[in-house]
Formats: sequence, structure tokens, C-alpha cells
Amino acid sequence: SNQMTPYEALGGEAVLSELVDTFYSYVANHPDLAPLFPKDLTETARKQKQFLTQFLGGPSLYTEEHGHPMLRARHMPFPISKNEAEAWLSCMNKAMDTVNVEGLIREYMMERLTMTAHHMVNK
Ligand code: HEM
Repeated sequence: SNQMTPYEALGGEAVLSELVDTFYSYVANHPDLAPLFPKDLTETARKQKQFLTQFLGGPSLYTEEHGHPMLRARHMPFPISKNEAEAWLSCMNKAMDTVNVEGLIREYMMERLTMTAHHMVNK
């Protein structure tokens, strides 16, 4: 069909990759988030690129390598309150500013990511 996936609307692998790397550079410097993450974010970023690719309607890269995402279960080892969810979203918002993700695709992504981030709250 003529319908672009959100993944395509974002700009595909190149833009997604830049967005995720920029996002984790902000996470690494956020006082409330950095302590939760490994010091080396290479593998975390690689998995997030796989996940967001399929989240946005691109190829199912995450599931092919790791199985069902079960995101809430995978986040249970980390104490996540509303504060951490908002911090995560603020890093993503800044990354979208930096990478110039604008317009409808930005609104669409932030709306879905906001729901997902709040779904991760476990404390
Ligand atoms: C993994 C924190 C929200 C997707 C992780 C890890 C942490 C974390 C500490 C483990 C990193 C590692 O060991 O490499 C948080 C916090 C959030 C949040 C504090 C705030 C709400 C989200 C959201 C998404 C997401 C909204 C999806 C849109 C993932 C994925 C992984 C991950 C795909 C990798 C899971 C795996 O090991 O296979 N997150 N996260 N996270 N997170 Fe989050």
C-alpha cells in the first residue's frame, strides 16, 4: 500500500539509530536514571534500536533475537517510579529536539512512549 509505517516516517534506521544514541547520552548524564543503567550503554542501545524498530512497524528485530519483549517484566528488577518515567520521557524529548524529529511523527511517538513509560512504573 501507499501507507508509510511510522518507522519509515521517522526516517528509518539512520534516524532511529541517531535518536537512540542521543537519547542514551542524556540518560547517562541524568542523575536519577544513570544509576539504574550499566556504565557501558552499547548493548542497551543496540536492544533499544531493535525494540523501537518493531514498535514503529519496522522489521521485528527485537523479537527475532530476544523473544517476546515483555517490557514490564524485564523492567521489574529496576525501581521505576513516576519520577523515573518522566525523566526517561524528558531525555527522549530532548533527543528529539537534538535530532530534529518534528511534527506528526514526533507527536505519535511521544504519545505511545508516554503510555509505555507509565506502564513500566513499578514502585
Ligand atoms: C532495558 C530503565 C522505559 C525499553 C532497560 C534497562 C533499564 C531500563 C535500567 C536495563 C538496561 C540494560 O541492562 O542494558 C528504564 C526506565 C524507564 C524505561 C527507568 C522509565 C520508564 C522504557 C520504555 C521502553 C523501554 C518506555 C520502550 C519504549 C527497554 C528495552 C530494554 C530496556 C527494549 C532492553 C530489554 C532487554 O534486556 O532485552 N530499561 N526503561 N524502556 N528498556 Fe527500559
